[in-house]
Amino acid sequence: MPVFRRPALLGALAALLAAPAMAQTQITVQHALPLNSHYGAGATALKETLERLTNNRIRVNIQRNDNEREMIESVQIGTIDCTITSTGPVGNFVPAVRNVDVPFLFRDYAHARGVLDSEIGQGLLNQFTPRGLVGVIWMENGFRHLTNSRREVNAPADVRGMKVRTMENQVHMRAFSTLGALPTPMAFSELVPALQQGTVDGQENPIPVIVANNLNQVQRFLTLTAHVYSPAVLICNPGTLNRMSAADRAHFMEAARAAQRANRERVSADEASGVDELRRRGMTVVTQVDTAAFQAALAPAFAEFERTLDGALLRRIRDWRPAGG
Ligand code: PAF
Repeated sequence: MPVFRRPALLGALAALLAAPAMAQTQITVQHALPLNSHYGAGATALKETLERLTNNRIRVNIQRNDNEREMIESVQIGTIDCTITSTGPVGNFVPAVRNVDVPFLFRDYAHARGVLDSEIGQGLLNQFTPRGLVGVIWMENGFRHLTNSRREVNAPADVRGMKVRTMENQVHMRAFSTLGALPTPMAFSELVPALQQGTVDGQENPIPVIVANNLNQVQRFLTLTAHVYSPAVLICNPGTLNRMSAADRAHFMEAARAAQRANRERVSADEASGVDELRRRGMTVVTQVDTAAFQAALAPAFAEFERTLDGALLRRIRDWRPAGG
């Protein structure tokens, strides 16, 4: 049995007291939707996985902020660590991302997820670095559909003259002005008052967003236009990741993949049940949409996007097929 002499024992105690408590880091992740939503599901999976893998050395604090541009600016200057945001305002920071905001570019969820998980998606994530941001992983908002308080929209002509809130996104605004609508860009935080006061007649968002935010209370008509896939992305401040050890960065990436899975699973589940739920809440839903007519009406905008965006990349995305598919 070891016998400690008194000075040695005191020395050991002093060293113990002087040792820093095991450092705990807190990461703040903001997103624009309620916790009970597809972004909330992703953020919760990120939190639970990272805290478990690091034995709570890294804690994740999830906060809500429904101004996506503001969140990206905060990540860039480092006042928050990470955000899960739609690509709505991202093109204003990383212009190449505008390519994936083009209407009717993706055929379905499998196409969108496949492209974003391929080297095409990784190539776009790499473009965040020179802008002082880390594009960690693609997440998902979903296919966007049109709602309004005026009339059933069955054909492109029904959209003419309608004031439609869009995200602060040049590609979406150009598409709506080509249809003859009056696109009105604003942050999501301003949407409900703008609909209530009649500043805008309509808006467009994926089913999970319409459901989670009770937009049926301010909108009567829903048309399943699926006019554009709305990607989301987990973006972090480079310093947040650089301060981590290599092992913790690997844990963070595993947590990000768990977040992506949970987020997409929730989008799929909400898509399956959401339309019936919105009908139950009183919305009139137009399900038969002449997609070809909307695409034809958008032809001038498509021609412009081929020139002003990356035409070759747009073709690669359209032509993408799963390996062996
Ligand atoms: O419409 C928007 O601004 C976005 O779709 C939202 C609701 C903030 C989710 O990213």
